[in-house]
Amino acid sequence: MTDEEQSSADGLADRRGMNVHVYQPAEDSGLLAQAAVEYPVSGTVLEVGTGSGWVSQQVQEKTDARVVGTDINPHACRQARERGVEAARANLLTPFRDGSLDAVLFNPPYLPTDPDNEWDDWMEHALSGGKSGRELIDPFLDDVGRVLAPDGVVLLLVSSLTGFDAVVKRAESQGFTVETAVQESYPFETLTVLALSE
Ligand SMILES: C[S@@+](CC[C@H](N)C(=O)[O-])C[C@H]1O[C@@H](n2cnc3c(N)ncnc32)[C@H](O)[C@@H]1O
Repeated sequence: MTDEEQSSADGLADRRGMNVHVYQPAEDSGLLAQAAVEYPVSGTVLEVGTGSGWVSQQVQEKTDARVVGTDINPHACRQARERGVEAARANLLTPFRDGSLDAVLFNPPYLPTDPDNEWDDWMEHALSGGKSGRELIDPFLDDVGRVLAPDGVVLLLVSSLTGFDAVVKRAESQGFTVETAVQESYPFETLTVLALSE
């Protein structure tokens, strides 16, 4: 598809209310928002991979936190801004200064995906966690301690499809204490929001 064709497809999808490029709120989004509001997070809060911006909007409206959202997908940043969320395009935590965030929220792309079945579009970025399901989660866990302020917290959504024990082990190896904030079981997976603190 040429850029021009892509742009008119975007316009048509937008006019019909379809969101072909941006992950829309689902059970996992709801669980992450619930955990952040119940915790509750406060101060300066980053939502990595904000998608439609719905989670950030919930946190903004239901806590006293100042919330910033980032996403690798420019369409997502635009949708989040339309919801009133301050959003910027970024890869994981790259632009953030050491010790600058009181809480970091992340509902990552987590589905284990055979490299032969990868599809090269924005929905792949939203859903695919690569072969292990943890190809975004691992570098996130390796860097997130750097950006946390003292007493900061990470709320990370983990699916049973992703290898729950491997995620907990990686977080512990980075010096985090790991607790379950909320957990919900569905027919095909159990979703957990982990609270990581130092
Ligand atoms: C499962 S969706 C979650 C969207 C939203 N937070 C929610 O809960 O409804 C994962 C999001 O992460 C974004 N993402 C993927 N890779 C990323 C990266 N390297 N840096 C930042 N965001 C990324 C995707 O574009 C997508 O919007």
